[in-house]
Amino acid sequence: MRIFSGIQPTGTKHLGNYIGAIRQYVVGQDRGEALYCIVDLHAITVAYDPAELRKSLYDLTALLLAAGLDPQRCILFRQGDVAEHSELCWLLCSVTELGRLQRMHQFRDKSVQQRELVSAGLLVYPVLQAADVLAYRAHEVPVGEDQREHLELMRDVARRFNARFGDGDEVLIVPEHRIPEVGARIMDLQDPTRKMSTTGGSEQGTVYVLDEPASIAKKIGSAVTDSGREIVRSPGKQGVSNLIEILAVASDRSPEQVEADMAQARGYGELKKAVTEAVVEMLAPVSERYAELRADEQALEDVLASGAARAREIAFQTLATVRERMGVGPARRAE
Ligand code: AMP
Ligand code: TRP
Repeated sequence: MRIFSGIQPTGTKHLGNYIGAIRQYVVGQDRGEALYCIVDLHAITVAYDPAELRKSLYDLTALLLAAGLDPQRCILFRQGDVAEHSELCWLLCSVTELGRLQRMHQFRDKSVQQRELVSAGLLVYPVLQAADVLAYRAHEVPVGEDQREHLELMRDVARRFNARFGDGDEVLIVPEHRIPEVGARIMDLQDPTRKMSTTGGSEQGTVYVLDEPASIAKKIGSAVTDSGREIVRSPGKQGVSNLIEILAVASDRSPEQVEADMAQARGYGELKKAVTEAVVEMLAPVSERYAELRADEQALEDVLASGAARAREIAFQTLATVRERMGVGPARRAE
């Protein structure tokens, strides 16, 4: 089984990214052939600074390695290094409905945020994301809940391509998403009706993977809950539900187990203390490894370069078939 996921080299990664995505990447290395791509070409669809992009790319590479990605057990690479992604994106534009792209939630949300220019790249973003996965004929895509719509589009693009050009073959594989049951949508600690996010959330409500323990304690300690005392998940108790989910993942228990274990706790103070301890314990080793890895940019570049070479070998094959089926370029000789 082949696993593929992409992650943006923007901002600093937070607890939502870590729980919803990065942890699944690490596990994926033992479940199949795993490819993880840092998507610099997606990052340039909104206003950005080129020097900052390079820096963030190294930040994220070091963070992913610190979190447990192992270049011996997965292919970690930079999207812009493998030209097949861009080429397949263009080819797949022919089987993607324009109206559907215009209705995508992320396009609408991000368009509103752009002050100077709503780029065509922002509209085509989901097609590039489809190309990322389909170029590797991957079976499974670990992502957080917010990527559901993009995955649906990707599946439809693959189906439409196969129907139009497949001639009965599954040239492109229709991938499954893998959204974790717990922690697929970690909420902002200050406003638990909004997802934790680097761009949309509050600074106090966002725990970053590389935050110091004292800062983690402060943010979790001041998390918004409700006026009750009961430690149970329910739709009216979004803040508490969020803390229970975080604690469950960070301490390797089910949310039900956490609720049972906390039944005797005296109020939310105790819950917050338990969450803080578990989160600090989960993230501290990542911070420790990060500093050393980040310091050696040449080593990071070497990891990315060898990842790209391995990725290209796979994507090249798919592209040859796609081009052939679409009638692009010379016909391949039948052997
Ligand atoms: P991004 O940093 O936007 O590339 O997101 C990387 C991954 O983190 C994607 O798979 C997202 O679905 C996931 N993710 C982002 N925010 C959250 C959140 N608040 N809770 C859970 N997963 C998230
Ligand atoms: N759009 C994804 C996000 O914002 C990142 C991404 C790009 C991705 N290409 C991908 C995720 C391919 C999964 C598969 O998080």
